Amino acid sequence: MGRRPADRVLPAVSPTADNAIVQPTLHQLLRVLTLLLAAPAALAQGAADDAARQVLDEARRASAELVTSVRGELVKAIEQSGPLRAIVVCKYTVPEIASAVSRKYGARVTRVSLSPRNPSLGWGDVWEQKTLMAFDERVGKGERAEGMEHHEVVQEPSGRFLRYMRVLPMQPVCMACHGPKDQLSESIRNQLTHDYPHDRATDVALGRVRGAVTFKKPF
Ligand code: HEC
Repeated sequence: MGRRPADRVLPAVSPTADNAIVQPTLHQLLRVLTLLLAAPAALAQGAADDAARQVLDEARRASAELVTSVRGELVKAIEQSGPLRAIVVCKYTVPEIASAVSRKYGARVTRVSLSPRNPSLGWGDVWEQKTLMAFDERVGKGERAEGMEHHEVVQEPSGRFLRYMRVLPMQPVCMACHGPKDQLSESIRNQLTHDYPHDRATDVALGRVRGAVTFKKPF
């Protein structure tokens, strides 16, 4: 097919001042290229941030659930049968609640402390110990323990995890079992000595860090 006459009469495009404006410079081309190349990485980063935010949301909900149920069971037991009987709640019911919340969220959700009562469940790992120490330091400097939290995305041999901790401050209701040892009732002191011969969880002052809820989930 031959060219139409109109094509032939059109002048060749010349680099006039006007054209110079619309013609991209090498610098601009490179910028666009860089942006195009960076786009997938930025998108992936955005998606990862979104996923982390979603898991952080779950961490907060799971911790709130654990704290609310534990508190409910504890207060109920103390009101119905006194603090001595409530030890059973802490010993058996709380680990069950933590396990149920863990199963529900597909995460490890439990309570840890720098000075645990139960050495089997209560010791934190390295990250948890560091976080607890940082909490303790902040509270020592006057920050309120109530609502204090920390989260981080960590890479471990088996994958990427969101880690989250929320402080469990020492409150009046905790005093009967975690307060100054010489102020615990004799029956509680005896029961604790019997059940937890290696107990390190007494003598915590009101408002200080008794421990924390910890949440860890792969994503
Ligand atoms: C009736 C006694 C009692 C009361 C009240 C009580 N606790 Fe405990 N707490 C225990 C016992 C017993 C354990 C050990 C549970 C186990 O065997 O895993 C424990 C364990 C814990 C742990 C897990 C780490 C560790 O030390 O082993 C945390 C954290 C904790 N308590 C925080 C609190 C807080 C905060 C309060 C107040 C809101 C509180 N407790 C009130 C008896 C009590």
